Amino acid sequence: MAAGSSVCRLLHLLLPLLLLSCAIAESEKDILLAFKSSIQDPSSSISDWSLNFTDYCNWTGITCSSPPSVTSINLQNLNLSGDIAASICQLPSLSELNLANNHFSQSIPLHFSQCTSLLSLNLSGNALWGTLPEQIGHLPSLKDLDLSNNHIEGQIPPSLGMLKGLRVLKLGGNFFSGTLHSAVFGNMSELGFLDLSKNPYFTSKLPMEIGELGKLRVLLLQNSGLYGEIPESFSGLHTLEVLDLSQNNLSGSIPSGLGLGMTKLVSLDLSQNKLSGLFPSAICDGGALVELGLNENSLAGPVPESILNCTSLKRFQVQGNMFSGQFPSGLWSLPNISIVRAENNQFSGEFPELVGVLSQLEQVQIDNNYFSGRIPRTVGRIRTMYRFSASLNRFNGNLPENFCDSPVMSIINLSHNSLSGSIPEPRYCKKLVSLSLADNNFTGNIPTSLSQLPVLTYIDLSSNNLSGEIPPELQNLKLALFNVSYNQLSGSVPPYITTGFPASFLQGNPGLCGPGLPSTCNGLPEGREPKSNRLFIVVIVMSLTSGFVVLVVAYFMIRRMSQRESRSNLWKSVFFYPLGILEDDLMMALDDKSIIGKGPFGAVHVIQLPGGNFIAVKRLRSLGGLPSRRIKAEIKTLAKARHKNLSKLLGFCYSDGEILLIHEFGKKGSLGDALIRSEASFNWRVRWQIALGAAQGLAYLHKDYVPHLLHRNVKSNNILLDEYFEPKLAGYGLDRLIGEASYQACMSTELCSCCYVAPENSCCMKATEQMDVYSFGVVLLELITGRPAEQPDSRQSLDVVKWVRRKVNMTDGTLHVLDPRLLNSSQQEMLGTLDLALRCTSVMPEKRPTMADVVRSLQCLHDIVEPPRVSSGV
Ligand SMILES: *[C@@H]1O[C@H](CO)[C@@H](O)[C@H](O)[C@H]1NC(C)=O
Ligand SMILES: *[C@@H]1O[C@H](CO)[C@@H](O)[C@H](O)[C@H]1NC(C)=O
Ligand SMILES: *[C@@H]1O[C@H](CO)[C@@H](O)[C@H](O)[C@H]1NC(C)=O
Ligand SMILES: *[C@@H]1O[C@H](CO)[C@@H](O)[C@H](O)[C@H]1NC(C)=O
Ligand SMILES: *[C@@H]1O[C@H](CO)[C@@H](O)[C@H](O)[C@H]1NC(C)=O
Ligand SMILES: *[C@@H]1O[C@H](CO)[C@@H](O)[C@H](O)[C@H]1NC(C)=O
Ligand SMILES: *[C@@H]1O[C@H](CO)[C@@H](O)[C@H](O)[C@H]1NC(C)=O
Ligand SMILES: *[C@@H]1O[C@H](CO)[C@@H](O)[C@H](O)[C@H]1NC(C)=O
Ligand SMILES: *[C@@H]1O[C@H](CO)[C@@H](O)[C@H](O)[C@H]1NC(C)=O
Ligand SMILES: *[C@@H]1O[C@H](CO)[C@@H](O)[C@H](O)[C@H]1NC(C)=O
Repeated sequence: MAAGSSVCRLLHLLLPLLLLSCAIAESEKDILLAFKSSIQDPSSSISDWSLNFTDYCNWTGITCSSPPSVTSINLQNLNLSGDIAASICQLPSLSELNLANNHFSQSIPLHFSQCTSLLSLNLSGNALWGTLPEQIGHLPSLKDLDLSNNHIEGQIPPSLGMLKGLRVLKLGGNFFSGTLHSAVFGNMSELGFLDLSKNPYFTSKLPMEIGELGKLRVLLLQNSGLYGEIPESFSGLHTLEVLDLSQNNLSGSIPSGLGLGMTKLVSLDLSQNKLSGLFPSAICDGGALVELGLNENSLAGPVPESILNCTSLKRFQVQGNMFSGQFPSGLWSLPNISIVRAENNQFSGEFPELVGVLSQLEQVQIDNNYFSGRIPRTVGRIRTMYRFSASLNRFNGNLPENFCDSPVMSIINLSHNSLSGSIPEPRYCKKLVSLSLADNNFTGNIPTSLSQLPVLTYIDLSSNNLSGEIPPELQNLKLALFNVSYNQLSGSVPPYITTGFPASFLQGNPGLCGPGLPSTCNGLPEGREPKSNRLFIVVIVMSLTSGFVVLVVAYFMIRRMSQRESRSNLWKSVFFYPLGILEDDLMMALDDKSIIGKGPFGAVHVIQLPGGNFIAVKRLRSLGGLPSRRIKAEIKTLAKARHKNLSKLLGFCYSDGEILLIHEFGKKGSLGDALIRSEASFNWRVRWQIALGAAQGLAYLHKDYVPHLLHRNVKSNNILLDEYFEPKLAGYGLDRLIGEASYQACMSTELCSCCYVAPENSCCMKATEQMDVYSFGVVLLELITGRPAEQPDSRQSLDVVKWVRRKVNMTDGTLHVLDPRLLNSSQQEMLGTLDLALRCTSVMPEKRPTMADVVRSLQCLHDIVEPPRVSSGV
């Protein structure tokens, strides 16, 4: 009895508690459901937010603490739109709300100020508009605030400064305007990451308070309408790793202490401003030299105090300003420096010999300054150097023998200097694409071994004192530009040069003779062609070809045998859409008859489904040996990329060592086919539509889809056309499935369409968006000219890039580039597109537009057709 009553009493005590916790739980669920009810969810990403899944802590994006209470809502990248309801702030323990990369389009909700427990608010990548409300300052515990990439306008409210605990503040990529109030940053002593970049409507000076943020690691203020001087206080940012102030209107000289205490600085970008005066030479002086015990070396005077001060520095970019005086020479010997860009300033100084320094330099651009002295032997010894551009300076003396020894060197521009002596025979730079030595005082012959550099495309040796003949061996090269005007060359011009290039590239050489030139070669048989040579080449080509054929046959026989075996392997399949075909039937259909093409990664089959539709099956040999779980995850990542201009991934099958990717296949086949068929309906309007659609698909992969993807294999055979000629990109992101090493291996096989590959790819660099832009530019050229990028069977003919570049250099050549089968009425549009294509295929990656720019340009071309300028620049 006594025991019974005590149990009863306990129950009496507990019951209200139990009920209370039930009530909280209920109401949290209700709050979430109310939140959901105002959201549109077209992809049904949060369909599990429903009463039949009782445990709301298990709903998509929800994290709970125990006892159950929602602490975090993470719904990024789910294509959500609609309203962000006020009710969400009633969740008592909500500390993280992440709705990044959705389609919310509303003004910033005032009610967020009620979410007092929030630590992290991420609304980046939506379409929020209106001003940032004062009330944002009422979130006392907020540590991370990310509103970047929206359409927020107006001034940044000073009340933001009340968020004293903020560690990350990202407001980049909006339309903020007005001035940056100093009150905003005065109290944010915890701030480590500040991004206000890409807000072009600011008109503000840099608040000196930013320089007092003692924990700042990353400061991104590029392209934000900032003017005035960089405050002295900025030299106090000792914890800084990345400083980007580029593309503003900053002026004056920079604080003398900048860089001094910045021992962690990795990247400094001050480019494209109006900064002037001396560059603080202390910025990195000495550095490695002292570390390596070489301080008695070339450093004159006392060793500066700032020694070892920025040994982490990798990128130093100050181009496009008005800096003058000595270039900080200690920079060259920093252990990690890889990119130095200082072009278009008034720097003087020399490029020192680096003794005992293991340099990581990759890219040096110091064009258009007052650098002087000799080109040091160092340049040739740095094995990582792929670009050395020092035109328009005062370099003199001879070019060192080893100037072109870096195995990855691809661009050399030393034009407009005072270099003399003979041009050394290039020895090892098999990746050299562009060599410009124009307007110097070089003498002697054109080096014959240029002809052994397999990818050399642009040679400019004009305005020197070169003599002798033009080496006939150069015809081995497939050149797009060969300018030797204004030299002392003599003898007969090899015929492929007189026919391939404009006469202006030969003028100013009184001794040259040949057809089309002022003097014909009297006495000499015109165009003495070394016939034996030609015969020799023919023999070599034939033997190579036959060897290749034997290899290919052997390869396919072996493959066929292994295919037979593999067919009996166990295949596992995942279909994202119902295909209406049995797996076994699918496998049966993958015979040689269904192969429509072979790419570097394997064959592509096209199969008709029982319902009449076609699918393309790409057979990948997963040579990379990635674990199959990883491959599946990657394929799902690819499959989630959805855009009207991406070919839908319908499913995949995999077994040991092979993957079958199943794509939708358009009625009109690929753009490559369409170019070859060239039906009458393939008019400019259609081609423009294909260009625009493909550009939009690519821009989506680059920028809109998260994770950002690179296509890496843009070519006309990977652009599929539906019955209305709507283009769909296929074959993207294969590197993710087979691994980088195998990807590279495949791309270096014979089956790769090499002319789509950007020249810098050969320098074993990381894949970039700009490489995709290059490949897209090649597709544009195909659309404009109607020529396939590479003529499949003739190794002698030029690819479309070189062909076009040669033509546009000729007077009137530009018009001859346009596909003659198209009506004249579209000429202006086609010329505009040609200009765009030439920019996309620029040798220099930074001159290429982004895909977003390309989309805009293509749209504009169609809207306003004005006479465009066609640049023939490289
Ligand atoms: C995203 O939502 C829009 C409507 O807001 C819809 O048209 C589109 O198909 C959706 N995309 C995906 C990938 O679900
Ligand atoms: C889940 O709930 C919805 C309504 O919220 C209902 O239409 C659906 O039939 C339920 N499904 C199951 C499996 O109970
Ligand atoms: C939550 O989901 C996981 C996996 O999705 C499942 O294993 C677990 O049983 C679920 N818990 C509840 C309480 O439903
Ligand atoms: C916000 O989300 C985006 C998209 O996932 C992410 O890139 C960004 O780093 C997040 N911001 C913060 C401050 O974590
Ligand atoms: C910064 O903090 C100081 C002292 O705590 C205070 O007086 C000042 O008003 C604060 N400024 C802002 C903008 O909150
Ligand atoms: C840059 O600043 C100068 C004066 O400092 C001003 O005259 C000029 O208009 C500004 N340019 C831009 C693009 O803001
Ligand atoms: C950087 O330079 C400053 C000023 O010369 C000096 O006080 C500081 O000790 C240097 N830092 C290092 C890590 O040597
Ligand atoms: C140089 O870079 C490497 C790799 O990025 C890094 O491990 C190393 O710490 C850097 N050296 C310095 C001095 O920062
Ligand atoms: C070389 O430099 C000159 C002068 O800066 C420039 O006009 C030219 O376009 C450059 N050529 C190449 C191929 O980089
Ligand atoms: C070029 O070199 C020759 C001698 O090699 C010299 O006479 C001439 O002045 C030099 N020209 C220039 C412009 O430096």
